Amino acid sequence: MNFEKLRKDFPVLRNNKNLVYFDNGATSLKPDCVIENINKYYKECTSNVHRGIHRLSMESSVIYENTHEKVARFINSKKTEVIFTLNSTDSINQVMYFLYTSDYFKKNDKIISSVMEHHANIVPWQFISKKLNLNLEFIEVDSNFKLDLNDFEKKLDESTKLVTITYISNTIGTINPVKEIIKKAHEKNALVLIDASQACPHMKIDFKELDCDFLVFTAHKMLGPTGIGFLIAKESLLEKFNPFRYGGDMIKNVTLEKSEWNKLPLKFEAGTPNIAGAFGAFSAIDYLENIGMDNISKNDSKLLDYLLEKTSSIKNLEVFNPKDSKIQAPILLFNLKGFDPRVVSSLLDEVSDIATRSGTHCAQPIVTRYNPKGLVRASLYFYNTFEEIDKFVETIKVIDKDFR
Ligand SMILES: Cc1ncc(COP(=O)(O)O)c(C=O)c1O
Repeated sequence: MNFEKLRKDFPVLRNNKNLVYFDNGATSLKPDCVIENINKYYKECTSNVHRGIHRLSMESSVIYENTHEKVARFINSKKTEVIFTLNSTDSINQVMYFLYTSDYFKKNDKIISSVMEHHANIVPWQFISKKLNLNLEFIEVDSNFKLDLNDFEKKLDESTKLVTITYISNTIGTINPVKEIIKKAHEKNALVLIDASQACPHMKIDFKELDCDFLVFTAHKMLGPTGIGFLIAKESLLEKFNPFRYGGDMIKNVTLEKSEWNKLPLKFEAGTPNIAGAFGAFSAIDYLENIGMDNISKNDSKLLDYLLEKTSSIKNLEVFNPKDSKIQAPILLFNLKGFDPRVVSSLLDEVSDIATRSGTHCAQPIVTRYNPKGLVRASLYFYNTFEEIDKFVETIKVIDKDFR
């Protein structure tokens, strides 16, 4: 696979010749095909889905439905298990609501998460824990930035009803052994939610094989548009839960007295959905499938190995990752000793047009452990190059030497 050649498919790269886009953990760039398919919806077949029997509505309904199938194949789930949401945050909130309204928890039950979670996988659980008097506990991270599995085993007990964990950390970049975690949690009859927001863009994920109960991810981090995300959940659970939103499209029958829900997954997709988003997501997944997720993973490792090797000689660079491409996504979380991370990030931008992110990255609990002012994150994707890494490393050296 010639990754360098793929760069020409990305208009932001064509229109910003010197840009080094290392902010993929926040959102990825979009290839032409994604933008064109969104345009196709607005220019050629604007219509609502599942409502009209005219040609345009049929056309957009078919693509909307096909996108469910596409996601199901991509993730190896049933089509009925794929719910379109707004983003990962919305997906996790919906799961919280399902569990809340189905009286799944009782007082003093336990939810286990980890200290490396994004706020999206902390705040909803804080809310429900307070409301229902649940115990919310967080698995620790060890000194090598890996999840402490001994701590997990200590915390996992008969009262554990939910384990909700990220596949890949959006800050320290650690790839967690989720298969092992899911198996152990199921032995205690706990449900498991996997936050795959950072994993789906980078690796092949098999929902059936993982055997988790819920899996969430978000289109905009994997070449797709903003405003559309995914909740994959076991059909047996979805059959039992009440919907989060009520209204049009999610019903089969409505009388003034009562309503019957539509079949899965429509039961959970009330109102006019993000149809253009579904068009874009279809093309994004198509594009990723054409490259092959295994090829993307292999390329990630090469980029990360090179980045780790090149940065290892910078004395004042503090790095907060496992530094091992076997268990780390292509994310460098760092700071230059003595600098405010915001200054480093803005100098990378000003000096060399390198886009990174600074701050606490919506993961304040873990990041502030390492620096209360936050850290800089360089997050790479397949369209990044070794030359870009060279430019990044050279600029870090210039900042270190000339901007003190
Ligand atoms: C690990 C992780 N979980 C959840 C999210 C939330 O994604 P979204 O903002 O698309 O809901 C992010 C976004 O950065 C993330 O990195």
